[in-house]
Amino acid sequence: MKRRFAATLLIGAVCVAAPAIADDVERRAKEDYLLHCMGCHGEQGRGLVGKVPSFPDDLGRLLTLPNGRDFIQRVPGVTQSDLSSVRLAAVLNWIVKTFAPADVAARTAPFTVAEVERLRTQPLLEVARERPAL
Ligand code: HEC
Repeated sequence: MKRRFAATLLIGAVCVAAPAIADDVERRAKEDYLLHCMGCHGEQGRGLVGKVPSFPDDLGRLLTLPNGRDFIQRVPGVTQSDLSSVRLAAVLNWIVKTFAPADVAARTAPFTVAEVERLRTQPLLEVARERPAL
């Protein structure tokens, strides 16, 4: 009986803690975006016409292109970031959730630490040429 009570308590604690941890990850991802990406991409992700692409306008399209997912992880602002791959993956997931159209975001598998870690070793050197060729 005691053991069942303890198990119930444990399950309860996990149920309460899991969303709280998810909230923390999301809060930190937003902070990381504001500190490490916003300077160029803007608070609303709209970038700067002719210089920095607009996430609300472009991210959805990129995510549906066969090479778009790799491209997103290989642009210099991502590969050269000071952030760890764990935090970078969280920022990319936050960007998708925040700026991509809801239906595309729902269909997009979360960026994983492993793929961010692998692709950041392959930065794109000629982004302006690579992007239209996608
Ligand atoms: C110094 C300015 C700068 C910073 C800082 C920066 N970016 Fe960028 N980002 C750019 C530019 C410019 C492009 C367009 C491609 C290029 O020329 O690199 C871009 C492109 C992108 C793209 C592809 C979007 C598209 O439509 O092509 C993503 C995704 C992205 N950045 C994410 C990030 C994230 C995440 C961070 C923060 C960790 C970040 N960037 C930091 C300037 C920056």
